[in-house]
Amino acid sequence: MIKQQLEAINKAVLEKLSAVKDSQQLDEIRVKYLGKKGELTAILKQMGSLSPEERPKIGQLANEVRTSIENKISEKLEQIKALETQKRLESEAIDVTLPGKKSELGYYHPLTKVLREIEEIFVGMGFEIVDGPEVEYDHYNFELLNIPKGHPARDTQDTFYITDNILLRTQTSPVQIRTMEQKKPPIRIISPGRVYRSDAVDATHSPLFHQIEGLVVDKGITMSDLKGTLEIFVKRLYGEDSKVRFRPHHFPFTEPSAETDICCFECGGKGCHLCKGEGWIEILGCGMVHPKVLENCGIDPEVYSGFAFGLGLERIVMRRYNITDLRLLYENDTRFLKQF
Ligand code: DAH
Repeated sequence: MIKQQLEAINKAVLEKLSAVKDSQQLDEIRVKYLGKKGELTAILKQMGSLSPEERPKIGQLANEVRTSIENKISEKLEQIKALETQKRLESEAIDVTLPGKKSELGYYHPLTKVLREIEEIFVGMGFEIVDGPEVEYDHYNFELLNIPKGHPARDTQDTFYITDNILLRTQTSPVQIRTMEQKKPPIRIISPGRVYRSDAVDATHSPLFHQIEGLVVDKGITMSDLKGTLEIFVKRLYGEDSKVRFRPHHFPFTEPSAETDICCFECGGKGCHLCKGEGWIEILGCGMVHPKVLENCGIDPEVYSGFAFGLGLERIVMRRYNITDLRLLYENDTRFLKQF
């Protein structure tokens, strides 16, 4: 009777072991058969009811079954451990042949890119880069630049007023005044920055845009210094064979004044859509600093002279990259900005 029970247990354990998948299931089997309240233990407790002849035989059999079960279980445990290790290694494996995750590099806005280029050209010629406030006094933005109240030059430079006398600057030219007030000649600066005008937004106008101001003041500065400097600038920016011309113009703070054109780089001067058939493209305004402006800043025009210039960054960038709508530069659409 007990013998059959022992054999049945042995068989049942073997069957169960073959279906075991993890160490937890294996543990359950150990407890079920070998544990204190396990099936094998329960049988051994019946040994007392056996006859003295049977007892050693069955006892031996019981021990054999127990040892066999124990061995099978530890064998299975080894297998499961090996399997679990393999699974873990597989799930943690790194495929070194997979392409890496690319981290996106940032890039400069086209306005910044071209500004850096321009700055580098002037720094190379010994200019210093200075900054000025965007919220400015009427006094600096107009008055000291020889544009008194009621002057017609104010008509084209309407802006946003904070008070009657404080406004968003319409040009970077007030930085000329601030520089000359703060330091004595020799002065050689450029000043890039935002300027404002109350213009409605369209493809070529924006209430906010950028200018780069230039100012040189020293003893003996003449118109030829102005022309030479700007010619070098233009050749560095547009290529050594670009041609420049100076056209008479009027600005209240320079005398004489001029506008600088470059020979159209699209058509070479024949006339095309870019230069609107002119053959030439205007790129900046310039002139010899008006004696009155020097005087306004406490610099003696009998001793010192200077030249100044101002250029619009957006127009240069738009022509450089063939951008026809100014608004694209401010919308921060990365699909557009990515191209430069
Ligand atoms: N401030 C002028 C403007 O906004 C540009 C300009 C012209 C600046 C001549 C100058 C200059 O320094 O000499 O239209």
